[in-house]
Amino acid sequence: MGAATAGEIAVSVKNVGMKFGAVQAVKNASFDLPKGRFLTILGPSGSGKTTLLRMIAGFDRPTSGEIFISGRPVSAVPAHQRAIGMVFQKLALFPHMTAGENIAFPLKMRRHDARTIPEKVEKYLELVRLGGYGSRRIGELSGGQQQRVAIARALVFEPDLLLLDEPLAALDRKLREEMQLEFRRIQKELGVTTINVTHDQREALVVSDEVIVMNGGEIQQNARPIDAYRTPSNAFVANFIGVTNFIEGKVAALSTPAAVFDAHGMRLSGVAADPKLAIGGSCAGAIRAEQIRIAARGNGLVGLETVVDGHVLDCIFEGERVVYEIRVPGLGDALMRVFDHDPETHLQFSPGEEVCLGWNARDMHVFQK
Ligand SMILES: Nc1ncnc2c1ncn2[C@@H]1O[C@H](COP(=O)(O)OP(=O)(O)O)[C@@H](O)[C@H]1O
Ligand SMILES: [Mg+2]
Repeated sequence: MGAATAGEIAVSVKNVGMKFGAVQAVKNASFDLPKGRFLTILGPSGSGKTTLLRMIAGFDRPTSGEIFISGRPVSAVPAHQRAIGMVFQKLALFPHMTAGENIAFPLKMRRHDARTIPEKVEKYLELVRLGGYGSRRIGELSGGQQQRVAIARALVFEPDLLLLDEPLAALDRKLREEMQLEFRRIQKELGVTTINVTHDQREALVVSDEVIVMNGGEIQQNARPIDAYRTPSNAFVANFIGVTNFIEGKVAALSTPAAVFDAHGMRLSGVAADPKLAIGGSCAGAIRAEQIRIAARGNGLVGLETVVDGHVLDCIFEGERVVYEIRVPGLGDALMRVFDHDPETHLQFSPGEEVCLGWNARDMHVFQK
């Protein structure tokens, strides 16, 4: 652990596949994770996240390809010799032991010098902000505190790699968001290479240095959170991260990086975001809810390249923003979602009202459909 040598690869996944009978749970997955980085594997339920993580942990052997940790093939290393810390949704803490005894357990298993154990346990209790709680029984701790004990137990033997499989999924929202920041803080403090699995896109954006988006067993994109958000590699990623409106049409013209397409008799411009786009082919223009401006009908929206008329179906007050649902007759009666974050204009429009929507072509990503 500690400061990583620049560029050193901690985990290397090469053309890995996993077949359970007829089910191809993971298909031809490849990525390199540099030492000290926090990677999140993000995808819907059943997309192969846990299968990929279990292969990295060495629980399951890939049916094709190979995985290397610090340059060694995983399958060559017996389980008890692997320096991997893990936290799963079921924390699997020992309920009859205290917090301190739980944290000491992996050290005893690994035959650390008994005289050094109390000091290490105290250090990791402090790290997870449970200093002084060592003698509490697990049942006397809150859900969040139990989570912290599980993290300390996974890290106390200084593993090379920390694997997290949806450990926060069962927590309520406030606690989950607090623990996301805790994972991030602890990971930064220790510099331990971490692979986290989640279906929660917000968590992936908040905690990670890198995000791998999976669907149907295949890696869809491997990017920094901001790049996965701003330049999704396909329609699946655009839809899975953030709130995105899709407008379907046919490609009319391509001149890199611009793509022009016809949708319901309108000609729309966007950015060609998919190398498979072809003139005459079906496509979908993707625009995020926060990149659309809303104004009263006839009120201009001056300067925006695309402006369409619509009427308000619904407005939902979410506290820090209002979500408008707008019916757009000129785009085949499309239902578009628009965020308004401006407290000055909050709830300016009511259901039934005539409005117009506008956006910039650079914010519309055009994918093959
Ligand atoms: N042990 C198994 N036997 C058969 N099929 C499995 C097994 N484990 C996972 N699968 C299947 O593989 C696919 C991916 O599962 P999983 O990796 O658990 O997805 P995720 O963690 O993304 O929800 C699913 O279709 C699942 O039903
Ligand atoms: Mg899973």
